Amino acid sequence: MDELRGLILSGGKGTRLRPITHTSAKQLVPVANKPVLFYGIEAMAQAGIRQVGIIIAPETGEEIKQVAGDGSRFGVEITYILQDEPLGLAHAVLTAEPFLGDAPFVMYLGDNLLQGGIQDLVTAFRTNEPDALILLTPVPDPENYGVAELDGDNRVTRLVEKPRDPPTDLALVGVYMFTRGIHDAARAIRPSRRGELEITDAIQHLVDHGRRVEPHIVRGWWKDTGRLDDMLEANRLILDAIEPRIEGELVDSTVDGRVVIEPGATLTRATVRGPAVIGAGARLTDCYVGPYTAIDANCEVRNAEVEHSILLAGSSVCDLDGRMESSLLGRNARVRRDTSQPRAHRFMIGDNSEIGIP
Ligand code: DAU
Repeated sequence: MDELRGLILSGGKGTRLRPITHTSAKQLVPVANKPVLFYGIEAMAQAGIRQVGIIIAPETGEEIKQVAGDGSRFGVEITYILQDEPLGLAHAVLTAEPFLGDAPFVMYLGDNLLQGGIQDLVTAFRTNEPDALILLTPVPDPENYGVAELDGDNRVTRLVEKPRDPPTDLALVGVYMFTRGIHDAARAIRPSRRGELEITDAIQHLVDHGRRVEPHIVRGWWKDTGRLDDMLEANRLILDAIEPRIEGELVDSTVDGRVVIEPGATLTRATVRGPAVIGAGARLTDCYVGPYTAIDANCEVRNAEVEHSILLAGSSVCDLDGRMESSLLGRNARVRRDTSQPRAHRFMIGDNSEIGIP
């Protein structure tokens, strides 16, 4: 088999994570203080892939380029591919055709996280040489995904994108392996009801034309981080497996369990109960940070309790009465108690934000 290439889809709109994605690409929202996108790039590097193409959108592409760079820090070579409009996953494949040429490739959705990497899948793809390999996993809400139907011999018979009435609970995971036949399939299909060239339709086209599409059931966990709850869960799953490491400065502070404290972080009279990660330059003072919290670089937590939350760089939580839980704070966002009169809730929040008051 020719050398395998990688294609990561990091374009699109990110409507479900607004307002965070008003100012930043959804693939750059951090999970355990690392952009979601990096997990995909690392999985490719670990599987021995050297040439990685990243699909970017006009609005967020520059930021993605800046953050991921030329790929040398991951041990890969990145080529950025501009997709003018988010016209669907199969459209993204066609846009990448000049980069992919005739090479077989792994396609990875930039907002997906797959435990355990892709090495085993690459091996299966190389050994069995199907025309395509898809990953499936049972989910409680198949109507939110591409859904697959298999026959008694475990062969793929039908694929439907976000069906109102799902025929099975087997969702398509956002990691696929293709040979060059997918380009012709993507050219042969028409846009769906939502106006996109769906990858599910392109794969269905392969099935209908007698091509071999091999299904694999995912054994570990998989997350599409498109929504807040998924993001928090992905954060939980990754934090559960971090290697503890304390490099910041602790003054009268306690740290229990799996905790990473990056260099330059300072904890003063703080208690951190892991799994948790505290980014470089963060300041934690007179506070409690509970399990499943990721606090990014230069955040501040003072006189407050925070648990099961993600704080993006530069954000702060100060002088709270109760505990902040299951929250996602955007970059430089500030949450604090206001002592001025009259006593009232005061907010300045972005479009499509959400606030829950007990
Ligand atoms: O997460 C798995 C699901 O991903 C599959 O079950 C579905 O079959 C598949 O269609 C896809 O559904 P989503 O609705 O979650 O796709 P989304 O629009 O979020 O796009 C996935 C990634 O691809 C995301 O990082 C943005 C990027 N993208 C998307 C489109 C539509 C592009 O780069 N270009 C595009 O045109």
